[in-house]
Amino acid sequence: MSRKPKSLPGTAGPTNATRHQILMCPPDFYGVEYVINPWMDGNIHREVATKARRQWRGLHAVLSDLAEVKLVDPRKGVPDLVFTANAGLVMGDQVILSHFRHPERQREEPHFRDWFEKNGFKVTEMPSGTHFEGAGDALFLRDSPYLFMGYGFRTALEAANVINEVLQVEVVPLGLVDERFYHLDTCFCPLTGGYLIYYPKAFDERSRAEIERRVPAAKRHAVSERDALSFACNAVDTGAAVVLNDATPELESVLKSWGFEVVRTPLDQFLLAGGAAKCLTLRLNEPRPTAASRKAPAAPILSRRVEFRGHILDNGTLSRVMDVIPNAGGTYRVAEFAPGVRKDDESRILMEVSAPSERALEGMFLQLLALGGNPQEERLSSAQVVVADLDGVAPENFYSTTIYATEVLIDGTWRRVEKQRMDAVVVLAEGRPVCRLIRDVRRGDRIIVGSDGIRIHVPREAGEDQNEFKFMGSAVSSERRVEAAVDHIAWEMDRIRQQGGRIVWVAGPVVIHTGGGPHLERLVRGGYVSALLGGNAIAVHDLEHAVYGTSLGVDLARGVPVGGGHRHHITVINMIRRAGSIARAVETGVIKSGLFHRLVKSKIPYCLAGSIRDDGPLPDTLMDLVRAQEEYARLLEGAEMIVMLSSMLHSIGVGNMTPAGVKIISVDINPAVATKLADRGSTDSTPIVTDVGLFLNILARKLESLRG
Ligand SMILES: NC(=O)c1ccc[n+]([C@@H]2O[C@H](COP(=O)([O-])OP(=O)(O)OC[C@H]3O[C@@H](n4cnc5c(N)ncnc54)[C@H](O)[C@@H]3O)[C@@H](O)[C@H]2O)c1
Repeated sequence: MSRKPKSLPGTAGPTNATRHQILMCPPDFYGVEYVINPWMDGNIHREVATKARRQWRGLHAVLSDLAEVKLVDPRKGVPDLVFTANAGLVMGDQVILSHFRHPERQREEPHFRDWFEKNGFKVTEMPSGTHFEGAGDALFLRDSPYLFMGYGFRTALEAANVINEVLQVEVVPLGLVDERFYHLDTCFCPLTGGYLIYYPKAFDERSRAEIERRVPAAKRHAVSERDALSFACNAVDTGAAVVLNDATPELESVLKSWGFEVVRTPLDQFLLAGGAAKCLTLRLNEPRPTAASRKAPAAPILSRRVEFRGHILDNGTLSRVMDVIPNAGGTYRVAEFAPGVRKDDESRILMEVSAPSERALEGMFLQLLALGGNPQEERLSSAQVVVADLDGVAPENFYSTTIYATEVLIDGTWRRVEKQRMDAVVVLAEGRPVCRLIRDVRRGDRIIVGSDGIRIHVPREAGEDQNEFKFMGSAVSSERRVEAAVDHIAWEMDRIRQQGGRIVWVAGPVVIHTGGGPHLERLVRGGYVSALLGGNAIAVHDLEHAVYGTSLGVDLARGVPVGGGHRHHITVINMIRRAGSIARAVETGVIKSGLFHRLVKSKIPYCLAGSIRDDGPLPDTLMDLVRAQEEYARLLEGAEMIVMLSSMLHSIGVGNMTPAGVKIISVDINPAVATKLADRGSTDSTPIVTDVGLFLNILARKLESLRG
């Protein structure tokens, strides 16, 4: 029986009437002999021959009925030759030969080349090192000008430029993210008439958006996980029928509603190697896509060069770079690599990084600059400037700052950005680049956008884990280890104090609950506190302690709750509100002791930033958060050291305002919090995992002993 292609909705045209020619390879030597995808795992040398041959013959019979099938001879020792989809990408009489990623499959290349040459195809090869796995990763969207190309596991992103140049078609790169769907044809199946079945979760977000942008919703169907795992997307489209291993009734009814006949033919023996119907076939009379004859679009893949130097192997920089690139949908090629030979030697790597769009490349490049990458363009371009069109709003694509010293190239000169901080924009104010918060941008301001002409100075040792005073990864550190860390911190603090430098403290209410208040007071007396930043709570609890000897109703001397203690803090808030401010309460004798009493007496500035959970609040607490941020920033100016004591909220807020180079000590009982600030890549950060009361006690004692 011969099935005639029937007319499909919207498919009238010469391409559909043409009987498909398909290349297959008998499975005489098929078997799982190595593992190069997760499907093969555990299947090595499993007995598949008899059943696989039967299944292959089943597929061959179905396809011979619907199309014209040609064969390539099988070869011993080349088991995956059976998957002819990976022979190359055919269009008209041209074929771009595959260049497999794995050496095991590279053995197939000469056999396929021979076959194509003998059968009159013009063969083009990929440049060496540019991996490409043929129609397994390159699929034409029927009745459209597009060729979709999968990358991420097998095919190199750069292959898109070669295809674009050789075939003069618009290539849309799609990033594959699920190892089980390592080739595009395992999760993406364009069908006659511009239809598409695909498994969206196999793609990164950008690629899903690309697919949705190019294939109208009515013409695409997202298959279920069940269909995806039975390789329903690895289907052969013969024009009228869709031939596949299996399909759920839901998928079958979608395909039928589009006018296709659904033909199931079991292929589970090939699934053991990660392939099914489509993998076992290659269409040989692939027509030129519609509108492909128009002017070829520009090369889709853009590249830039970036260099990293320093102890990049041992300090984790290189592994972070390797994370950033694929996460941004990009790829890289190492152009030069000189590893340090001895322990103290620096390493150097020059990379060419590529991304599937200009925007993706720019986003990725900026992340690489923030890891200390140096742009290596042949001709450096000046920073790009766009004028803000609204108050408080930055232009799209604005450059967002990091904590590290940054320079921008303006009129041929590198200029250092002033008031460095993270999450700001760079404004050119009278030609000088200055960090400014988005809310402070004014219409007409000249803002740096993009990634051209930007250089970031990340300290060489950034990310290094060599600071002997870090307690990352440990649970609560022993008192002895805290003492060792404190010895060093105390020495630095005393040095800063003697040189008239500023030490700013950020503290949460736990300082008071743990009995650390009096020790912090000792530090204020010693001249080690230039400003205190906190919230409503630290002041409330300190004042409560000053008045009642309790903190949140707990007697700190005895560690037990006292009767009626639950209303102490609110009563104290009321007292301060009546006095007008903490300072007035101190001056009028309402508050006679405690940390805030000492701050007022010693004329040390403090800022209390409000939060939604604040009781009262105290009259001093700034409930206008923009004002509070400004006041924090003012008090932080010129700080040489910042000590963050058990307040996640305020410490992170302060961290974001602080440029690199300022020493940060963060003390928290929770290792995750203590190390969070270190995670921003600052080498100047020392996380200490301990009880804050204990830390302050040891520190105050140490500093007093230093002063004699
Ligand atoms: N009554 C009030 O008005 C009131 C009460 C509590 C909090 N607040 C407000 O809520 C906001 C957040 O408060 P926060 O800073 O306390 O909370 P936070 O969650 O930001 O930080 C508390 C930190 O202390 C750590 N910690 C707990 N016990 C510790 C110990 N013994 N030693 C060392 N570290 C320890 C925790 O791990 C946590 O990271 C602030 O604005 C604060 O003023 C208000």
